[in-house]
Amino acid sequence: LEQNERESLFIALNFAKDFFVKNLETPEGRSIGVSYFKERGFTPQIIQKFDLGYALDGWDHLLKAAKSAGFQEEILLKAGLILQKEGEPERMYDRFRNRVTFTIHNISGKPIGFGARILTKDKNQPKYINSPETPIYHKSDVLYGMFQAKKAIRDFDNCFLVEGYTDVISMHLSGIENVVASSGTSLTEGQIKLIKRFTNQVTVLYDGDNAGIKASLRGIDLLLEGGLNVKAVVFPDGEDPDSFSRKVGSQAFQDYLKANSRDFIGFKISLYRDEIAKDPIRKAEVIREVVQSIGKIPDPIIRSVYTKEASGLLEIEEGILLSELNKNLVKTQ
Ligand code: CTP
Ligand code: MN
Ligand code: MN
Ligand code: MN
Ligand code: MN
Repeated sequence: LEQNERESLFIALNFAKDFFVKNLETPEGRSIGVSYFKERGFTPQIIQKFDLGYALDGWDHLLKAAKSAGFQEEILLKAGLILQKEGEPERMYDRFRNRVTFTIHNISGKPIGFGARILTKDKNQPKYINSPETPIYHKSDVLYGMFQAKKAIRDFDNCFLVEGYTDVISMHLSGIENVVASSGTSLTEGQIKLIKRFTNQVTVLYDGDNAGIKASLRGIDLLLEGGLNVKAVVFPDGEDPDSFSRKVGSQAFQDYLKANSRDFIGFKISLYRDEIAKDPIRKAEVIREVVQSIGKIPDPIIRSVYTKEASGLLEIEEGILLSELNKNLVKTQ
């Protein structure tokens, strides 16, 4: 029975994907949806590759089409495609309306959810509306773009990790396909396990703003704990991989990534460089932070290699780092 329900949910999600994709060919879809994507530099090929679409303006376009195709409201609700009106639960309406849609695929390419972006700069509405958790969409086990990225991740033995849907797509347009997005939420153990099926090396490319840098620091520690080899790149203030690649072009973007990839120690030091130079107390805090991150690494040999590196870069005796490291290790055991 449960298997039947999952199958129905997959079919409903696939129906919705097809519906949103076909909407791009309607006059409304062409003048609003396609124009929006064009404005962002998305080509017809990339629109197709990522199953990008358009949710028409109106309360029940999808609901009506799905019902005529034989879907029951109960399944559409469970699929996260429709909502019940507050106080009048028998009245249903589409969750995604008047937005461009980003199809979220599972690792075998089946649609399991959507992210839908607003088309205006209206600050009173959320920029993205996303599918809820459902029996076929466990958010903590999914990374956006993994289906399209998995082969390239294996081939390059590296996975770029970005924040957003459009970062993934713009990087494909820049010729980089080994990229997935955490979709603006903090990384989970399930997502790290997913990456480890394809590579042990992650390069974090979060947005160049305070939120992005904070998220990078958190993500780096989780990845280290997961036994992954981590690098990170900082983008100029206010830029994300999408905006920056469009600004400088594919070649300069790729060159920037090569020139600015730092391991986690170099990343932390480059973040705090000015403070470290001016303020010894601040430097001590940074050293403690670096040691804490090193302490997350499960492999003692790799820990030792990074301890040596930190000693050199931070100009502090390795023995001091080691005794601090041992304190941390004892605490966590
Ligand atoms: N996000 C979300 N809901 C929001 C804002 C963000 O789910 N209200 C998620 C989306 O997955 C988004 C990611 O967090 O792609 C990163 O957010 P942000 O950097 O604000 O958006 P961008 O991806 O840069 O989107 P855009 O370029 O379209 O502004
Ligand atoms: Mn779940
Ligand atoms: Mn952001
Ligand atoms: Mn962003
Ligand atoms: Mn962006």
